Amino acid sequence: MKVTVGVSGGIAAYKAAELVRALQQQALDVHVVMTEAAVQFVQPLTFASLTGHKVITSLWTAPESSDDNLDSAIEHIEAAQTTDVLVVAPATASILAKFAHGIADDFLTTLYLATTAPVIVAPAMNVNMWQHPATQANLETLASRNVHIVPPDAGYLACGMTGSGRLADTPAIVEAVLGVLHHRNDLAGEIVLITAGGTREALDPVRFLGNRSSGKMGYALAEAAERRGARVILVTAPTALRPPANVEVIPVITTEEMRAAVLGRMDQASVVIKAAAVADYRPLKPADQKMKRSGPLTIELEPTEDILAEAVARRHSGQLIVGFAAETQDAVAHARAKLMRKGADAIVLNDVSREGIGFDSDRNAVTFLTPSTALELPEMAKRDLADRILQEILGLRRPQKVVAESITME
Ligand code: CTP
Repeated sequence: MKVTVGVSGGIAAYKAAELVRALQQQALDVHVVMTEAAVQFVQPLTFASLTGHKVITSLWTAPESSDDNLDSAIEHIEAAQTTDVLVVAPATASILAKFAHGIADDFLTTLYLATTAPVIVAPAMNVNMWQHPATQANLETLASRNVHIVPPDAGYLACGMTGSGRLADTPAIVEAVLGVLHHRNDLAGEIVLITAGGTREALDPVRFLGNRSSGKMGYALAEAAERRGARVILVTAPTALRPPANVEVIPVITTEEMRAAVLGRMDQASVVIKAAAVADYRPLKPADQKMKRSGPLTIELEPTEDILAEAVARRHSGQLIVGFAAETQDAVAHARAKLMRKGADAIVLNDVSREGIGFDSDRNAVTFLTPSTALELPEMAKRDLADRILQEILGLRRPQKVVAESITME
């Protein structure tokens, strides 16, 4: 498979040589495209020697013959059509801005627009440039167009400052490339059942008990599973979201309706992901008519059924069942206790006390907990996180890792 590594002009450009080697060790055919600025930092000869291929640095090659002119003009189209993935490392603030705005003024930016292959960017820059709202807005735009982002690490930067902005480690970038290349169809032929949103329990004909779940994480999981080739059944409580394309949507409102849908369809599924925030209690006797205001009010509630626990009890062999846990304190301890109590294969822990992520946000950071491991997935767009969570869920089919991996971001 062919990987095109785009190198843009930052001090981390030299690290792209290590990335090229690491990708070659995965038996990938690596080609390199450099921006003019990147050439200031590293010689194209370095990459040409490593890859055995000509390194493209410009849209325009010297017109030694008329054929060369033609070759040069169609080169980016051919490169765009033949590559299986484009990975840009390091991606400078400038290249991210150009990608986000569709500016095609050199070979790399033209290739980006012309390719339909998956694109991965590994940003590296000064911490202030990384945190600048312009850069963050460009990243949001790219994430919304399905560009995979390998976030920078935190640490000492070449500019002398300390903070986020250091190019992610080579293994993290290689993992992203392999993820895109090999996992694209890894759910083909499977049915994945996902619950999303927050269930509602009627108090009277106009009021309900509900929760703050937006459904974004569940919908992102449904989209991600569909992209990997699965047939997806999305059992969704009310949300403001447009249902993902090519997904079977079963709308429900109450916990009981969600329970009936899940228990009715779960036998077909090889993977069940319970991302919904389910009401734990419902009014014992909802009022038939709209309740009138008259002093203090006490409402008697009864517990709802635990759908996840029931699903685990009915699990068929080989079926993976994963829950979510929203916690506000002692998050890991509570989530692990929940995992053990319910008997799921894994639980995705959302620490909802953290500002700016989680409920209703487009971003989130979670911990993927199995009975023996805890993997921190750093803050990222929910659509990227959905893919990482699926990767971990499918990883449960392999013999369990003994050592817990931990990735942390500032
Ligand atoms: N869940 C469920 N049925 C319920 C309550 C929760 O299926 N009646 C599922 C959720 O979809 C989620 C997991 O159980 O996948 C954990 O939900 P959470 O609300 O965090 O846990 P609870 O079991 O309700 O525990 P607590 O409210 O005590 O934290």
